Amino acid sequence: MSEKVSRRQFAKLAGLSAAGMASPLEAAEAKQARARSTAGFPAGFVWGTATSSYQVEGAVNEDGRGASIWDKFVRIPGKIEDGTTGDRANEHYHRYKEDVALIKALGCKAYRFSVAWPRVFPDGDGKPNPKGLDFYNRLVDELLKNGIEPWLTLYHWDLPQSLQDRFGGWRSTETCKIFGDYAAYVAEHLTDRVRNVFTLNESGRFVYFGYGIGIDAPGLTLPQAEVNQIRHNSALAHGLAVQAVRAHGRRGTRVGPAENVDACVPAIDTPENVRAAGIALREMNAGYLNVIMTGRYTDAFLKFAGADAPKHTEAELKIISSPVDFLGLNIYAPQHYVVASDQGAGFVPLPIPKSFPHMNSDWLRVGPETLYWVPKLAATIWKTDAIYISENGASGDDVVTQDGKIYDTDRIMYLRNYLAQLQRATAEGVPVRGYFLWSLMDNFEWVYGLNKRFGLYHVNFDTQVRTPKLSASFYRNVIARNAAGV
Ligand code: BG6
Repeated sequence: MSEKVSRRQFAKLAGLSAAGMASPLEAAEAKQARARSTAGFPAGFVWGTATSSYQVEGAVNEDGRGASIWDKFVRIPGKIEDGTTGDRANEHYHRYKEDVALIKALGCKAYRFSVAWPRVFPDGDGKPNPKGLDFYNRLVDELLKNGIEPWLTLYHWDLPQSLQDRFGGWRSTETCKIFGDYAAYVAEHLTDRVRNVFTLNESGRFVYFGYGIGIDAPGLTLPQAEVNQIRHNSALAHGLAVQAVRAHGRRGTRVGPAENVDACVPAIDTPENVRAAGIALREMNAGYLNVIMTGRYTDAFLKFAGADAPKHTEAELKIISSPVDFLGLNIYAPQHYVVASDQGAGFVPLPIPKSFPHMNSDWLRVGPETLYWVPKLAATIWKTDAIYISENGASGDDVVTQDGKIYDTDRIMYLRNYLAQLQRATAEGVPVRGYFLWSLMDNFEWVYGLNKRFGLYHVNFDTQVRTPKLSASFYRNVIARNAAGV
């Protein structure tokens, strides 16, 4: 036991602190502890919620929208667990005013939504569809009218089917270039009012799930070399979009990725393990985030990929690493608990026991400390002074009880613990500037269909009635107090 600790304990035992006789050091520590227990976030912290176009809009055949790869994919028998589609989803295309009111009722000052590329360019490129853009004009205006800042995502997986048919989608750099043009068009028309733009949502998911194991659209199972090339293309598309927003957006428009960072956490908090978790975070994200933030593929990544490594040029790396204004991280679950090792790259990810607790999705392990460690390590590795948690949230059982209410205490438990850890990070000066809760309302959860619920608002998909869950009150309270509610 150190001298300092024993003296403090003695002082406590002797009641010296209570008598106002604590040392300056002890007084400072007590002050810090008090500040921590109020769990406050920095002033100006951005509280928001998030959705994405295909998951909520519906109206897939209206006002000239073209088909997306998801429109086709959901029709392949067996692909969607409950056999549903996003054809109708939340009818948000028509009910957006009602939904903006729901956001307002939470007290959110920000809303992250995505633009459906095939609504704006039915074929992906060529002639734009003004009616498609109009929807986003109306949505943005409605948000601003209600004091809610629009945060726009350019790509949340609904690739125009035409680009898949003509170029093999993200298999071709042609799609990357066309994405850049689309980004320029959106920036030109919306950044007079939209000040923050996310490029692509979760390359880490849509590349592997869509082109590697066929679980997501377009449902392909390509060899690893091609998957790596597609991931490289997605990074290139990100870089081209950053450049397009800079060139065509209003001056000062901020742009960055929204990535499901492969979340590495030290298994036990020792300096060696923390260092190892940092290395792991860099290496496990070497194929996308790290190359975006540093402009190079790491030696370990290239060595591991071997002959399957993505072919790339210096010029491409330059585009890929175009400077961003913020780092958007989607963080739900710990991916790897890491310990230090004197072998290999210096870390070992531990096996995760079957008994590890999870929410109502097998993959959604409950590891609140992920929201402390990942931003903290990311800020150091990638030298950013603005991190946004672009998604975090939980699936729940969400049974409607006889009184018509949904008492989702499990989601509240999850949020309370994750937010407490996020607050711990901000209290230490980790530059997390905002948080977007996934999701505003239950929606079309990709391969799970309508059965998996992540919303703060329950949605009855027959009647389209939205009902606030108990977690909506919890989140409203968090926002009102700017505190995690521990
Ligand atoms: C994120 C996506 O990966 O997780 C969201 O960006 C998605 O679009 C959310 O809804 C939940 O994922 P899933 O696979 O459980 O529906």
